[in-house]
Amino acid sequence: MDGITDAPMRALVGEWGCFSYSVTEFVRVSGEALPAKVFRREVPEVATDCKTVTGLPVQVQILGGHPERMALSALAAVRAGAKSIDINFGCPSPTVNGNDGGASLLRTPCRIREVVRAVRDALPPEIPVSAKLRLGWESIDDIFENAPMAVEGGAAWLTLHARTRTQRYEPPVFWPHLRRVNELIGVPVVANGDIFSFDDFQKCRETTGCEHFMVGRGALAVPGLARQISVNLGLEPTAGSEFESWNTWLSRLIYWCDQFHPGTERRTLARLKQWLNIAYRHGSLDVFQRVKRAETVKELMAWLEPDFVNN
Ligand SMILES: Cc1cc2nc3c(=O)[nH]c(=O)nc-3n(C[C@H](O)[C@H](O)[C@H](O)COP(=O)(O)O)c2cc1C
Repeated sequence: MDGITDAPMRALVGEWGCFSYSVTEFVRVSGEALPAKVFRREVPEVATDCKTVTGLPVQVQILGGHPERMALSALAAVRAGAKSIDINFGCPSPTVNGNDGGASLLRTPCRIREVVRAVRDALPPEIPVSAKLRLGWESIDDIFENAPMAVEGGAAWLTLHARTRTQRYEPPVFWPHLRRVNELIGVPVVANGDIFSFDDFQKCRETTGCEHFMVGRGALAVPGLARQISVNLGLEPTAGSEFESWNTWLSRLIYWCDQFHPGTERRTLARLKQWLNIAYRHGSLDVFQRVKRAETVKELMAWLEPDFVNN
């Protein structure tokens, strides 16, 4: 998730355990193909077998509409150490869409096929290529054209956010459409959108019939959610720590920010605020309004202290 699931956050999520893999923030390919050094900078995990130092596999996501530049960039990512590539056809940002990237390609399904195919053809066969899509630009039914195009291009699986671009993040989320795609498409579908609790997860699972799930905002708003889901499903406990308290986990994020970006306190502060904002909007941590004006990390932590929720 752009602006939040950077290397420090991925390292932290690795500490939590219970996730099969994480996907990077999108790396945008615009005027020129990206060189390997961009991926080494944006995705430091490429140097460590494409896993966080806390053991979480990381998939590199790229975004753009130019097949050849996307293919060359994907190849550079793989040369830098990427083990799999995801292509973003879901981002709703007007700036990104205005530059022919993300969800804008949902309006021309054959271009989805072209981009996926170019990336697929450029990479060694053992490197999987997947695609992340919204249901369509305006119509939820566009997914019945867009999803097959991604698969024809060579996508090994699809992650589907069950909304259109026009909806941005507004309700409702159209889980029933994912069931229909899942039944038709012949590759695994990762269901995505609005899983904020175990109940949501159960409903999503029943409605979509999917076996794979991507949790975005919910994973950050309710940091114990993945563990809760795996415990409730009776899965083997994976390595990792139970959610202790917000205090502990925010301190751990500060630690990881210092490891990856020493001496950049403003950046750390921005990331903490982003996280608390998501927790405020989608979880039970009701302190964002108070801390959003904090000017230092120390101030933010001090202002939070009295209210910490130990859930
Ligand atoms: C702040 C923010 C940044 C995001 N950045 C990305 C991104 O870089 N790549 C991507 O595939 N999806 C991105 N998304 C979309 C999420 O991956 C996900 O599809 C969406 O939030 C719906 O799932 P959720 O309800 O579990 O959050 C972003 C979402 C948000 C809120």
